[in-house]
Amino acid sequence: MTVGTPSGRLAVFPGSFDPLTNGHVDIILRSALLFERIVVAVLVNQEKRALFTPPERIEIIRDVFCEYKNVEVDSFDGLLVDYARRRRATAVVRGIRAVSDFEYEFQMALMNRHLEPSLETVFMMPAEQYTYLSSRLIKEVFSLGGTVSGLVPPVVEDWMRRKKTAESARRSTGEK
Ligand code: PNS
Repeated sequence: MTVGTPSGRLAVFPGSFDPLTNGHVDIILRSALLFERIVVAVLVNQEKRALFTPPERIEIIRDVFCEYKNVEVDSFDGLLVDYARRRRATAVVRGIRAVSDFEYEFQMALMNRHLEPSLETVFMMPAEQYTYLSSRLIKEVFSLGGTVSGLVPPVVEDWMRRKKTAESARRSTGEK
């Protein structure tokens, strides 16, 4: 392989994506330039405090990347390494925003390597303006009336607004 050419391989970008932020978008776009194909893999777990269901998250991410032929959106449950094996992925991409991310990411990468030595973890840094962004903070700011414009794709903002409206309507009718 010539240095500087794409590796021609498939990478998985796993995560909760509740919701997708511009930091995630940045990492996906960077990885789409490095790998032949990037699979955004949404973890299917039944987290009680989740804003969006896994099918909603998938629909949102597909919408955001509909014009990118080498970006695929899928879901997985169970071990990431098992999913990566099924997809014949050679790498897992993870974004690192700050030193504080490092310990958790390092543990996960080494555990995944223990489980599947041939699977590499590739850490990527998002653009500087997204280093303080997290899905948790986006949810908190939005729920308290703050603006998340410019921090999430407009599609995500629309979905969040609709969720909020539906939630208020549900509350005002006393529905559980
Ligand atoms: O967006 P997140 O929540 O930081 O993503 C975490 C994720 C989904 C990458 C991680 O929790 C994961 O891989 N879960 C699947 C279960 C698994 O393989 N656990 C062992 C990891 S060492």
